[in-house]
Amino acid sequence: MKPRILVTGGSGLLAINWAIMLRDSYSVVLALHDRIIDLAGVETTKLNLDSVDDLVCAFDTLKPDIVVHTASLTSVEKCESSPTLAQFVNVELASNVAKASAIYGLPLVHISTDHLFQGVESLLDEPSAISPVNVYGRTKADAESRVLDICPGAMVIRTNFYGWGTRYRHSFSDVIINALRSGKALTLFHDVFYTPILIEELVLVVHQLLEMHESGVFHVVGDERISKFEFGMKLAREFSLDTSLITSGSFADQASLVQRPHDMSLSNQNVCKLLGRKLGDVNSHLSRLHLQEKNGLAQKLQEL
Ligand SMILES: NC(=O)c1ccc[n+]([C@@H]2O[C@H](COP(=O)([O-])OP(=O)(O)OC[C@H]3O[C@@H](n4cnc5c(N)ncnc54)[C@H](OP(=O)(O)O)[C@@H]3O)[C@@H](O)[C@H]2O)c1
Repeated sequence: MKPRILVTGGSGLLAINWAIMLRDSYSVVLALHDRIIDLAGVETTKLNLDSVDDLVCAFDTLKPDIVVHTASLTSVEKCESSPTLAQFVNVELASNVAKASAIYGLPLVHISTDHLFQGVESLLDEPSAISPVNVYGRTKADAESRVLDICPGAMVIRTNFYGWGTRYRHSFSDVIINALRSGKALTLFHDVFYTPILIEELVLVVHQLLEMHESGVFHVVGDERISKFEFGMKLAREFSLDTSLITSGSFADQASLVQRPHDMSLSNQNVCKLLGRKLGDVNSHLSRLHLQEKNGLAQKLQEL
């Protein structure tokens, strides 16, 4: 029998890609909130994360072997303007999922972020002291410690990913590709750095870590630290799009935006050492993104 995996935030960018990647080898259940979706080969169910009792009942019926918690309030702007909601969704709901998982002794993967540091140092490793600069970062940091207190065997995955999105949820790479394909100019920051990973690789790595029964905090990011501007340029070259439409801009000039770390790059050395391999640089992941489109994944997601 196929192992059963329950993914919260089921309508989100990460969860849908996770489900598509695993649906042949796992029995996948996408746990939905407001948005209802239908995905071939995948079970979907409305799941109330607000109550531990409801979650315990649902786990009893759904009988997952693994729980992946991706549900979150992911808009940095929305978190800043609605800090109570951000605390509730990002911290309380994550704690509820951890409590229900702990009751059944289920392996739990909690998805966190690279948005946890001041942003003045590069390629930080897992033991680095966290120091978030905005509400999104603070709530994601609180969630990490609450989840690990409740479920010490959980895996907390700090990451920053991209891949093909849906009609209603565009990834960073979608935004760039869509703009350039429709001949629109766009500005990308040359002074914001990160270590992006293709969702396909992220999911692969998490499942390798699960097979190794790992627990604790892991930086699952790509091998290369890059600016958002350089990422856009590489993406445009991979897809033979017009790089002259991309202008280099400075985040430092954007006084009206919510404060963000300028350098979100994380080191994946610990994970590479555990797996005995590299996770891939930006060009290798972009060529896989391109291949996914050629194989029809982008089209499939657009139909959702
Ligand atoms: N996207 C990135 O590049 C990135 C980078 C670093 C870390 N992350 C982390 O990765 C995870 C997944 O991100 P994503 O981009 O895939 O998210 P997303 O596309 O924004 O989706 C968020 C999901 O959370 C659900 N949700 C929101 N409020 C909820 C509530 N009250 N109860 C239950 N579910 C609720 C949403 O459902 P409804 O739409 O139905 O409300 C949606 O399915 C998050 O933990 C995020 O912090 C993302």
